[in-house]
Amino acid sequence: MRTVEWHDGKVRMIDQKRIPWELLYVDLSDYRAVATAIADMTVRGAPAIGAAAAFGLALAAHESRATTLDGLLTDLRAAATHLKAARPTAVNLAWAVERMIALATSGEIRNPDDLRALLLEEAQRIADQDVEINRRMGAHGAALVHDGDTILHHCNTGALATVDYGTALGVIRAAHEQGKRFHVLLDETRPRLQGARLSAWELEQLGVAYDIIPDTAAGYYMQRGEIKLVLVGADRIAANGDFANKIGTYAVAVLAKENQIPFYTVAPTSTLDLALNSGAEIPIEERDPAEVLAPFGNPIVPPHFHARNPAFDVTPHRYLSGIVTEFGIAHAPFTESLKRMVGFRRATT
Ligand code: MRU
Repeated sequence: MRTVEWHDGKVRMIDQKRIPWELLYVDLSDYRAVATAIADMTVRGAPAIGAAAAFGLALAAHESRATTLDGLLTDLRAAATHLKAARPTAVNLAWAVERMIALATSGEIRNPDDLRALLLEEAQRIADQDVEINRRMGAHGAALVHDGDTILHHCNTGALATVDYGTALGVIRAAHEQGKRFHVLLDETRPRLQGARLSAWELEQLGVAYDIIPDTAAGYYMQRGEIKLVLVGADRIAANGDFANKIGTYAVAVLAKENQIPFYTVAPTSTLDLALNSGAEIPIEERDPAEVLAPFGNPIVPPHFHARNPAFDVTPHRYLSGIVTEFGIAHAPFTESLKRMVGFRRATT
């Protein structure tokens, strides 16, 4: 089963809030419910929320009672605005919605039902391409993994964060499928525990050796010389290579540089936002402090205590050894290499 898919006229997704305790699917028949599922992280991870929003827009087209093309386009634009507002940092969300709207307004379609069918096909194409792209990134990135390595990984970047297979965890999966033997240390990733709950659940199923570590232990293992490689994902990469990823990534990057450990992000070109010159322009989501004070509804301090909860941080490009994309590994200067990667994408679509 894919993390998100179209099923019987509805958007079906794994409820990631319930992993690892139960594998529960939710079927959504309203695009607003898809936006809510993105916002409350029923579905999360940059490529997964992009695909979910694309299916959400296909759903909006099916929900709309418009009988004219103009009427349907008006409904679609309202749905697009609503879906894009669900989470601000991962550019894959806006990228997927804009790709769907660009198709809808391309002028080639003559009647609303044709447009409804076309949008569903396009959402399915986005989902299928995500899986294929992840496998290609896995093949490129697996060359970075060597027998005997211990790899540090932050957050969840696996099948659950994508439609299937994963980005940074996809590289780990590809290396495992190639028969390489290595060990993974999973940052638990406070406060939503994507590393402890989701990445560990995935590696359990794949049979990859791992240990969950407190986020605060990463420096300890680096200092002891135990970590040979750091692999993380990305939610948005600016033209100069600065990138936003799950909160805590910046600290890991600085520690990796101090300890001379290669540090890579693995991300499809849909995560590139070359309109932004640097990471300072990336909008950073601030989530409800309740996620810190009472993770998953379990209070760890009295509810009137104060907390802040930034969901992402920005890692400057100088900490990056490279960016693994579906077209190969981009190296510094990223202003040049990332432009080339986007050029490869344009040439293939
Ligand atoms: O808040 P989340 O769980 O959606 O954050 C996810 C991450 O930060 C991932 O590292 C990123 O989306 C890349 S996943 C392929």
